[in-house]
Amino acid sequence: MFEDFAPVPVHKRVRSAAWAGDLHWRRIRAYIEMICRPISIAANTLRPALGTGVNHNFADKQFDKACVRTVQYRRNRGWNCKKEVLRDASSPVCFCLILMGKGPHSMALVDTKKMFKMAYNNGYAVGAFNVNNMEITQGIIEAIAEEKAPLILQISRGAREYASMSYLRAIIDVAVNENPDIPIAMHLDHGDTFECCKQCVDDGFTSVMIDGSHHSFEGNIKITKEVVDYAHDHGVVVEAELGQLGGIEEDVIGVEDVSAHLTDPDQAIEFIERTKVDSLAVAIGTSHGAYKFKTAPKLAIDVIEKIGARLPGFPLVMHGSSSVLREFKDLINKYGGAMPDAMGVPEDAITEAAQMAICKVNIDTDLRMALTAKIRQVFAEKPSEFDPRKYLGPGREAIRLMVKHKLQVLRCAGRAAECL
Ligand code: G3H
Ligand code: 13P
Ligand code: ZN
Repeated sequence: MFEDFAPVPVHKRVRSAAWAGDLHWRRIRAYIEMICRPISIAANTLRPALGTGVNHNFADKQFDKACVRTVQYRRNRGWNCKKEVLRDASSPVCFCLILMGKGPHSMALVDTKKMFKMAYNNGYAVGAFNVNNMEITQGIIEAIAEEKAPLILQISRGAREYASMSYLRAIIDVAVNENPDIPIAMHLDHGDTFECCKQCVDDGFTSVMIDGSHHSFEGNIKITKEVVDYAHDHGVVVEAELGQLGGIEEDVIGVEDVSAHLTDPDQAIEFIERTKVDSLAVAIGTSHGAYKFKTAPKLAIDVIEKIGARLPGFPLVMHGSSSVLREFKDLINKYGGAMPDAMGVPEDAITEAAQMAICKVNIDTDLRMALTAKIRQVFAEKPSEFDPRKYLGPGREAIRLMVKHKLQVLRCAGRAAECL
């Protein structure tokens, strides 16, 4: 029954299982153990995959004695899936298991190849938003679903530590299942070692970043190539970084003077050719965090132009792209925060870059500030409030509105369908 699936690690094969009605968990589990034994799946590796969707399609159908029927069908983008429908003879209900084959990641997550091709050809960029919890993810997804834009959800090492990959993955699976018309990629942000990137490939990420920008040029090429070889073997795309950004995030240390560490276009061409990386993050004067510029903001647009002229079609990535929106900065400062000198990238510069070779724009700080501003506001205006939904809810709503606005800045609203 599983011949087609033999090369794929087993725990990645059983991607989701849905149940209808009141079929008892023990019976489902016994069935899973039965089908898994021949290919030695530990039942506990399957448990997290259960209950990620509901399928009532087969609930009214009768099946023969073995109660199992296999339906092979081909999902979009060539994924082979088997849908197994189980009906217990003594019960009117049934459930189905969807078994994935021929690939390491879940059925509706996509990689970034098509998104970047479309973004490059049509003068827009895809928003890559950092996710750390449910509210942040929901705010982003609601905006994306309303605006019909392609999406990259990115997870940093800090996010993996904070929320744990299984929680983040479950949240993202729900987002993916509920939005089949939206292409969503799951991307590792700032992977620092081969092992970290490998783990993420094995965890089902569709895109990983190896940030070897703190290594020597040759050291960066070596580690990037190692990750590219492994990731490409597993159908996963890779982003690398050349040149250095400024600013400090939890796990990403930047340089003091960003202008001295801009990406050298000649090196970029050599780097791309030698590593075969799929996209490259370039240092063009931005920094991570809320304090990007001390005086007037300025981006090295010529770096994008030079690489774009010599490698047409190659997607570049812009990190440190938050704008530090006035609305949220003011609310934070008004309600007890202290971010008086915060300054971000002007949005017209982002739009300009998006129309050039920049195909992915990373945004985290603006999400953090939207959430923080609203929480501060509720705490200040309603000091007796202690229901987390009453302050996380407004935070989530602020993220939704902010992301909707960003999708206009990036010019990617309405572009979901062409990226599928
Ligand atoms: O570039 C870094 C991102 O903003 C992620 O930050 O490492 O604090 O999660 P983090
Ligand atoms: P910001 O800090 O400007 O949001 O940048 C985020 C980022 O580059 C994540 O990789
Ligand atoms: Zn970054």
